[in-house]
Amino acid sequence: MTNHKIIVAIDGHSSCGKSTIAKAVAARFGYAFIDSGAMYRAVTLFALRHQLISEGTVNEQMLIGFLPEIQIEFRYNPEKQKSDTYLNGENVEDEIRQLPVSQNVSPVATIAEVRAAMVRLQQEMGKNKGIVMDGRDIGTVVFPKAELKLFVTASAEIRAQRRFDELTAKGEPVSYAEILQNVQERDRIDSTREASPLRKADDALILDNSNMTREEQLVWVIGKVEESLKFHVPDSK
Ligand code: DC
Repeated sequence: MTNHKIIVAIDGHSSCGKSTIAKAVAARFGYAFIDSGAMYRAVTLFALRHQLISEGTVNEQMLIGFLPEIQIEFRYNPEKQKSDTYLNGENVEDEIRQLPVSQNVSPVATIAEVRAAMVRLQQEMGKNKGIVMDGRDIGTVVFPKAELKLFVTASAEIRAQRRFDELTAKGEPVSYAEILQNVQERDRIDSTREASPLRKADDALILDNSNMTREEQLVWVIGKVEESLKFHVPDSK
């Protein structure tokens, strides 16, 4: 039985189920799960509330000036058995998932200073390993030495359908076409931005889950974590 811990970095396109996989893997191994996208979403919510975004254009200089005042943390919610995202002490977990934030988060996540501040926080959270973090640059920038890196993907149509189902189940009045457009636009911005574009790390394993059930994915990923634990010798410290 191994008792050393590794870092599992999960990157990939939006709405392809990264968080679901990451959460399940974290629970299985007793690791912390960190949804790094939630952090960019919380910064976006802050910017929206302070009128720093107008018709999709972010007032970058003002937002950068506000960064020292933006505190983001995750607190475990025992009722939901998962962590909620807090922005300056307020639980914003639900609000950061809604369309106004989804529609404005990509431009916020292109700002190099915002990324630098989030990466610093993320690296701090992973300093003792035993963490599963999902995002876009986790295996390439945040934890380039992560023991296990996964790159998750699925077709844009399948991802849009999944997000549509998720939001309609919560009673949100959304259209499939609007969501598909949002998914495609976010793919484009995430992959073409200058600061840490979404790309597969050379040593990441690809998981295309277009035609896989959650259970199939979980079995596959757990197998990879177990292999990685066997392969990586514990720190000598
Ligand atoms: O995973 P998500 O859809 O909640 O991510 C929200 C946005 O944040 C998305 O536009 C990509 C961006 N993001 C990022 O640039 N880097 C990360 N590590 C995580 C998310």
